[in-house]
Amino acid sequence: MTAPQRRILVLGGTGSIGAAVVAELVRRGHQVTGLARSEASAQRLSAMGARSIAGDIAAPAGWVERLPPVDAVVHAAADFASDMGAVETRLLDALLPALGGMQPKPRFVYTGGCWLYGGTGDRVADEATPFDPLPEFAWMVPNLDRVLASDDVDGVVVHPAMVYAGQDGVFRRFAGDARAGRPIRVVGGPAVRWPLVHRDDLAQLYASALERGARGESYCGASVDGIAVGKIAAAFARRHGRAEAGLRFIGAGDAARELGEWARGLALDQQMSSAKARRVLGWRTLHCDPLAEILSAPAQD
Ligand SMILES: NC(=O)c1ccc[n+]([C@@H]2O[C@H](COP(=O)([O-])OP(=O)(O)OC[C@H]3O[C@@H](n4cnc5c(N)ncnc54)[C@H](OP(=O)(O)O)[C@@H]3O)[C@@H](O)[C@H]2O)c1
Repeated sequence: MTAPQRRILVLGGTGSIGAAVVAELVRRGHQVTGLARSEASAQRLSAMGARSIAGDIAAPAGWVERLPPVDAVVHAAADFASDMGAVETRLLDALLPALGGMQPKPRFVYTGGCWLYGGTGDRVADEATPFDPLPEFAWMVPNLDRVLASDDVDGVVVHPAMVYAGQDGVFRRFAGDARAGRPIRVVGGPAVRWPLVHRDDLAQLYASALERGARGESYCGASVDGIAVGKIAAAFARRHGRAEAGLRFIGAGDAARELGEWARGLALDQQMSSAKARRVLGWRTLHCDPLAEILSAPAQD
């Protein structure tokens, strides 16, 4: 059954997650508008078949009061700067009351993430697992609770696993090292596991959560519960004929110094299950073997 067309605002619609979500929502026939903080972002949204409104999540007063009526909001914007928690709290302060004035109450899809569950080791996290967030992302927990409890919106949360697409997303640095013939840098040790999801599969989950998710519910999005990141890096080395260059394991502190505190998450040994999304939303994933995808990627990649 086709879902009715909705007017949807996407924050972060040009990002790793958001662009795939915009493309899927447009494909499903929804009327999608993205918040664009630059002309380049507006053009990318237009190329995907979405409209845009100019605005910055760090300055919501400039655009929130100009919002057209919407049926749903997908929030997948973040700039990974040190004040991202304060920026988002101010965003919610302005955006939730503005949405509260709309009828019917808009759906709000908030983006959490696997890093909110901390290192899970041999346990497999799911929606019932208590949060143990990386300090850099601890602000997300009260903010997602606020969205879920808000009377202004009809809130749901999606917790993406580590998001990849071909040699992009969380694989980009591995692919870059391999192409350059450098040892592939892996944060943490060879036993660190990442839950993974292809961005196109994740976009299906966002669309399903938006169309059919139950108010107040959260959905974890992982197509692979957990795979040793050393195996992924080794597959990139083989795929690019650089197996002799090997892997170089670096500590979380070194990664944080190079990329920012958020990069400590790359060292978390995690597993996460999406049994709930599969059972309740009927979520199906097409990309279940990332190693095979890496090894069979076209030569020009
Ligand atoms: N990627 C993952 O593996 C992953 C996994 C779990 C959770 N998450 C969470 O998902 C969210 C999105 O992550 P992502 O990887 O998709 O990020 P991303 O690729 O860096 O994209 C960020 C998006 O936010 C927009 N943005 C940033 N600052 C903005 C501002 N001041 N005003 C308006 N828009 C702004 C960017 O727009 P521009 O085009 O203008 O730059 C872009 O569209 C984050 O909260 C992240 O923690 C990500």
